[in-house]
Amino acid sequence: MSLPIINFGSCCIDHVYAVDHFVNPGETLPCTGYEVHPGGKGLNQSIALARAGAEVLHAGRIGQDGQWLKTLLDDEGVGTELLLIDDGPTGHANIQVSSAGENAIVLFGGANRNINREDIDRVLSQAAPGQLMLLQNEISELDYLVDKAIETGLRLVLNAAPMSDNIKRLPLEQFELLIINEIEGEALAGAAEPREILRNLRAKFPATRLLLTLGEAGAVYQHGDTQVTQEAASVEVKDSTGAGDTFTGYFLANYSRDDSIEHCLRKATLAAGISVTRKGAASSIPEAGELDNAG
Ligand code: RIB
Repeated sequence: MSLPIINFGSCCIDHVYAVDHFVNPGETLPCTGYEVHPGGKGLNQSIALARAGAEVLHAGRIGQDGQWLKTLLDDEGVGTELLLIDDGPTGHANIQVSSAGENAIVLFGGANRNINREDIDRVLSQAAPGQLMLLQNEISELDYLVDKAIETGLRLVLNAAPMSDNIKRLPLEQFELLIINEIEGEALAGAAEPREILRNLRAKFPATRLLLTLGEAGAVYQHGDTQVTQEAASVEVKDSTGAGDTFTGYFLANYSRDDSIEHCLRKATLAAGISVTRKGAASSIPEAGELDNAG
């Protein structure tokens, strides 16, 4: 029997503002709509994993004001026994969504940045060698967590988002799978062109499986001499928030079942393609059955 995937990541309350354009310096911009959605790259990816059929445990911290996020995870079948309640506020995101469906996000870490070494030791004491652990870059003590997870013998997967310098200091050569977009790839590889990104990262981290998402140009997987490309879905974008999280969760759920990379990429692309036609991050993630009708 396979062990659940542990996703140690953020939970956020997303305040989403519909705008004609992103606010400029010094401008006061009335929005044309306002909604509150569940979010945080960690929570979004846990929900995507669960909707894609994976067994997943979510580790992290929320505040009292985020109890509804725990209820949501419970309802989705995500294990929450490793999710702690913090004295401070839950993390939140202030998200502008433009009429073109693009987003601009200001993130307040809140409880996500109160994750401490004791929390990490407690979670890892319940993990077993060979178990998959998924990480993003929205929680505190990520470097300690990575070191301890390697010591524990976990199979590490990193979605290197949002990119910042601390990611560059992680021992990425020890990760099984690295999921990045072009911006994150450029920051890590020192090159902007997708082929160069992959070539440089392959040289730096030869054992790590690389998955580069390219928006409208699809995605490329590279491991050793194996390269698999996937075209993007052709859809009308309403809100791209959470598309990367949907892609990551769907890819990893299928990957964890040892499905072919072609299959994993196809499912992840279909799911992300559906998510951008809907509003919100976690709220936009499709159920696995919806992909059957999508192509
Ligand atoms: O990836 C989308 C997510 O990024 C949003 O849900 C927001 O909370 C930010 O963390």
